[in-house]
Amino acid sequence: MSFTVLGTGMYVPDRVVKNDELANFVDTSDEWIQQRVGIRERRVCTNQTAIDLACEAAVRALENSGVQPQELDLILAATVSSEMVSPGVAQMVQHHLGATCMAYDINAACSAFIFLLETAAGYFARGKAKKVLIVGAERMSRIVDWEDRSTCVIFGDGAGAAVLGEGDGYLDSAFCVKGGDDVIKIPQFIGKSPFFEKEQESPYIHMNGQETFKFAVSSICDDIRALLQRQNLTADDIAYIVPHQANKRIIASAANRLHLPIEKFYIDIERYGNTSSASIPIALDEMNRAGLLRRGDLLLLTAFGGGLASATCLLRW
Ligand code: ACO
Repeated sequence: MSFTVLGTGMYVPDRVVKNDELANFVDTSDEWIQQRVGIRERRVCTNQTAIDLACEAAVRALENSGVQPQELDLILAATVSSEMVSPGVAQMVQHHLGATCMAYDINAACSAFIFLLETAAGYFARGKAKKVLIVGAERMSRIVDWEDRSTCVIFGDGAGAAVLGEGDGYLDSAFCVKGGDDVIKIPQFIGKSPFFEKEQESPYIHMNGQETFKFAVSSICDDIRALLQRQNLTADDIAYIVPHQANKRIIASAANRLHLPIEKFYIDIERYGNTSSASIPIALDEMNRAGLLRRGDLLLLTAFGGGLASATCLLRW
């Protein structure tokens, strides 16, 4: 027993920030951002928190699935940018919904949504859950250095959620973790202990873009090839590949290496930028509501990011 996706939801803040607006305060241009990353605009919070975004996406996913909060056995959430370390996003979503089930967060940066699916699959396999809510929610605008043009132009805020019910839709998965902080790190506030002797690093995203780019392309390709081979499938059997939306050129390079048409990949980065753990559930919700997904379709979800970590799964819709 694994699960089927019963419904999806997403929420992004109203404030749209176009590339030209960023060029007012960092040395960049709409042309550079569109060409090098593929983003036209992103959403940015003005008065909502990552938890607020999570709660709204969760409500929408429950409505879409027809599941009541009291039916939930588990809520799992992912974030790297919540304002609060505790309570976790999942616990605040539980409170907001009036649910009474177990709830906790998982941190795996941009690939976290697939870690949530994998964790949920374990509960279904052990018969410990019949209905699970999973949420990725990020206020990335809180953790980018708005004076660093190499990071502040690529991220956006948003949340995405899915409700899972008993089924046989989670078919296979592949994970790769190359632990270390040399390529991506997000240091926290180190506190004011008079006994601690290390210096505070700036508490924003530090990223070696080119190393991340290389890791992303090779992990997407390796994971997809491995899953297709293990399941005795070809790319023709797959309705859509839903990649983490970090850079359109990463997706194009992976498509090229895999000899696949770019149309096989769902892309919405031009409107939201990189929303980290929210990026795949936002894409899924858009596809779901646009009627792009039919029951029985095979999907590959693939993500990469801080950790370093990559994660790919094969899902029957
Ligand atoms: N506007 C204009 N010029 C810029 C900008 C900008 N916003 N940012 C960088 N540049 C400049 C650089 O300074 C450099 O100039 P130089 O040649 O004079 O030194 C030039 O553009 C090229 O810089 P690169 O870093 O080589 O640019 P690249 O093409 O690699 O693009 C980017 C940078 C967009 C960050 C890319 O490397 C990328 O997308 N990497 C992957 C990011 C990613 O996937 N992150 C996900 C994980 S995040 C997480 O897990 C939380």
